[in-house]
Amino acid sequence: MADSKKFYLTTPIYYVNGVPHVGSATTTLVADALARYHRQRGEEVFFLTGTDENAQKVSDAAAKLGEETQAFVDRISNRFVETWKFLDISYDDFIRTTEPRHKEVVAEVFRRLRDRGDIYAGKYEGWYSVSDETFFRDSEVKDGVAIESGAKVERVTEDVYYFKLSAYGERLREYIHANPSFLQPDTRRNEVLAFIDEGLRDVAVSRRNTGWGIETPDDPSQVVYVWFDALINYLAATGWPGDTNWDTLWPADVHLVGKEIYVRFHATLWPAMLMGLDLPLPAHVLGHGWWLVGGEKGAKSKGNIPTPQEAVDYLVAASGATQGAAIDALRYYLIRDISFTGDAEFSLSTLVEHFNFQLANDLGNLLNRTLNMLKQYEDSVITEAAAATAESSVATLAQEVYREATDALESLNPGAALVATWKLIAAANKAIDTSAPWKRHKEGDKQGVIEALYEVLEANRIASVLIAPFMPYASARIREQLGLDPSVTPAWETASQWGLLATGTQTLEAQPIFPRINLKELNAKEASSKPSKEKKIVSETTPTPEATAAAATTPVTETAPATEAAAPAEVIDDTITIDDVIKLKLKVAEIKTAERIKGADKLLHLTIDVGEEAPRNLIAGIAESYAPEDLPGKKIVVIANLAPRKMRGVYSQGMLLAATDENGRAILLTPESEVGAGAEVR
Ligand code: MSP
Repeated sequence: MADSKKFYLTTPIYYVNGVPHVGSATTTLVADALARYHRQRGEEVFFLTGTDENAQKVSDAAAKLGEETQAFVDRISNRFVETWKFLDISYDDFIRTTEPRHKEVVAEVFRRLRDRGDIYAGKYEGWYSVSDETFFRDSEVKDGVAIESGAKVERVTEDVYYFKLSAYGERLREYIHANPSFLQPDTRRNEVLAFIDEGLRDVAVSRRNTGWGIETPDDPSQVVYVWFDALINYLAATGWPGDTNWDTLWPADVHLVGKEIYVRFHATLWPAMLMGLDLPLPAHVLGHGWWLVGGEKGAKSKGNIPTPQEAVDYLVAASGATQGAAIDALRYYLIRDISFTGDAEFSLSTLVEHFNFQLANDLGNLLNRTLNMLKQYEDSVITEAAAATAESSVATLAQEVYREATDALESLNPGAALVATWKLIAAANKAIDTSAPWKRHKEGDKQGVIEALYEVLEANRIASVLIAPFMPYASARIREQLGLDPSVTPAWETASQWGLLATGTQTLEAQPIFPRINLKELNAKEASSKPSKEKKIVSETTPTPEATAAAATTPVTETAPATEAAAPAEVIDDTITIDDVIKLKLKVAEIKTAERIKGADKLLHLTIDVGEEAPRNLIAGIAESYAPEDLPGKKIVVIANLAPRKMRGVYSQGMLLAATDENGRAILLTPESEVGAGAEVR
């Protein structure tokens, strides 16, 4: 009996002219999260990745190093294998385009398309960019570079074989209209339709043989054009055409790719090739944007983006976390923040910020608080599983979050699943504050303590299920501490069930998974370390002048060089008189809205109600301490008569007051009991 169809998803195969960096890792990580999710749903999954080795730029890179090309590609391909292992990528197959199983299928595809007249011999005269491995028309080139990418082009005249792409424009357009979910996200569909509307032209699918690549069948004077060769990997890995089980994999469910290889290759050339072979098209082609660094695409050749290992080492050194936890933190950041519709700015300081606030504070602290109280009040034993009823508000929210996270993953938006899960984590942390088990304990309300704790224990368990596709290590550590078997990844559906933590379960003592990073120390360390390649990367954690001004009350942004910091303190009289004090107009304000500021990692743009006709704008350096969504509704204290100052294009009207904890985190000062916005503070 033939096996049933598996969920088949792919990453691009990576050029081996350079080592993987966090940008290339992102495509693989997003695919990994989707693969793990589908496995948790009980589906059979086939997750393919690999390396693209026949490119001219690959042989050029080997030549530059004076290495024999095959030895070079073996070495770099292995770097990808090692990096994916390091990042705990759960791929099922790794294909290399220098393997015979791939080369044979390329030859077979070439022959079939040639036999039906879709491939024909001709001459190419035009532009070629080795860096993009792309042929460009005159209209696509300006001043010696490709307009699309800015890459250098060269003029080539050679005998080639063409693929009749022009014959497929109409069929492709019809297919895209008939299958609205084929091109994802929706915004990419219009780009592709516009590209087709410009008129698809036949494309060269071979190049002159200079000694590297797959020879065209029956004509060793040429090698197959690397993109035509590379796309076929998705089919070659299924065993097509000889393996009887190839259709348990094909068609692929998801091809995941970056935006620069979306329109021209994965959304037009590849589907047309498949049409020519009379094969079904993949269900979805999903494109994501780039990680930018300082507004430019992050690339290893520019030296502006770290390798995953570098980023993880940095986190381990800064936090003292285990390598597994640091890897999960990187996975969390890259999957959560990559944009599918636009680009996103990468920085190590945002990684640190997520580590401290979303992982250490929100997720980690929820577990630590829960287990500490269970130990103190109940000897680390779950006394009564049914104690918290399914009517609890946390249980109701857990249901909603489960649905939201599931919808996000089904609609190929994994970052949104994490955002949904954090709603549950925030609510559970709030529930502890509200139910205050310590008060109930003091009052001798044992049943109350048990109920309050069970509610958040379950929230921890459910969170561990929902984060498993993204952070497998942390998910297992949470389950372990909850007294569950860490080696068994729970079925996805168990996140929709309430009350699965059983009576009598013995939990472990809390062991922080994400130890908070002391930002003060980190900043001081970075300020004093000598300039180096790494320094260039971490230097992004130093603030802009605006951030320093706005965050005057928080040392998160301290940047004093070590020499200055070490200088003996000057003895000055820092007392002030009552005249100075009465100059200050302090007021209670209510935060109405809070938003991040693009390109400023430390700053939030708040609007605040100070009891005046209209709300005020305030730029505050608290983005590393507070998530914007947690702020609206909070009452704070502000200096209301500070002269307005223009920052980031906004007049900031005032300054908020915040204390600083030992880790450099800003703690907002809030009124102890209810008082209206605008109330004076004396
Ligand atoms: N070899 C081709 C793909 C052939 S697939 C049949 C290729 N390789 S690549 O190594 O250049 O890129 C692989 C993937 O890494 C792409 O999805 C690309 O978008 C991704 N990234 C490389 N740099 C990136 C960023 N700075 N940001 C996000 N993703 C990036 O293209």
